[in-house]
Amino acid sequence: MPDRPIALFDSGFGGLTVARAVIDLLPNEEIVYLGDTGRYPYGPRPQEEVRHFAHQIATELVEGRDARMLVVACNTAAAAALDELQDRFDIPVIGVIEPGVRAAISVTTNGRLGVIGTVGTINSGAYQHSVEVAAPEVALEALACPGFVEFVERGEFDSEQVHVLAERLLAPAIAAKVDTLLLGCTHYPYLARTIADVMGREVVLVSSADETAFEVRHRLEASSLLRPSDSPPGPPTFLTTGDVDWFQHLGSRLLGPELDSAVAVRLG
Ligand code: DGL
Repeated sequence: MPDRPIALFDSGFGGLTVARAVIDLLPNEEIVYLGDTGRYPYGPRPQEEVRHFAHQIATELVEGRDARMLVVACNTAAAAALDELQDRFDIPVIGVIEPGVRAAISVTTNGRLGVIGTVGTINSGAYQHSVEVAAPEVALEALACPGFVEFVERGEFDSEQVHVLAERLLAPAIAAKVDTLLLGCTHYPYLARTIADVMGREVVLVSSADETAFEVRHRLEASSLLRPSDSPPGPPTFLTTGDVDWFQHLGSRLLGPELDSAVAVRLG
């Protein structure tokens, strides 16, 4: 069982922030990552469609690639389909929303928390619900940031245009005097410099990536499924539904040298 990979997926490059954290924390684990770059962005799509995509991808990773754990490294997909995927498979299925909320709540000192995500994620109410359950005393400012994902997928992280968009979209979080901003989309850590410039130095940015990796380790340990430290991992696999050369090119820039090749996958 521990020889089987840990699978992660996202609409595109965003989940690589989580993959990086998992590789760093669990270097002996073998991972398989699927970026649905042929169909991004998920954020503006109806939940029903995102749910369908999530089931298709999960089938590929769990049944086709024999994953022993599935990480839904996409907030939009987790908001739409995490419960269903957890019910459907008998392997652990982990999302990014609760780990992110846990991390952000432990950081805020003034009790004013901001969360930014895609239209699909914010409209789903998943963050509002999760914060209400975990810390009802925290005031949450939840903002959709349409357009951010597209900039990241194009490899544009700190251009003037991103900056102008960020100033417009983040203004309500500044007005709400949040001291912590949770990046509720796995693409957004790649825009951290721009977001931090706009929010100001005193606001702490929190990404769900590290906390999700801790959750992965915790779940593997709890079920005695961690790979032994003396067993070297197989090479990671990176699958894309979009352009393979672009995935390899931008992906290696974002994730690092582990992403030295990508493989086309057809979902069906
Ligand atoms: N990384 C995805 C998320 O966390 C982006 C979704 C999209 O493609 O709009 O929500």
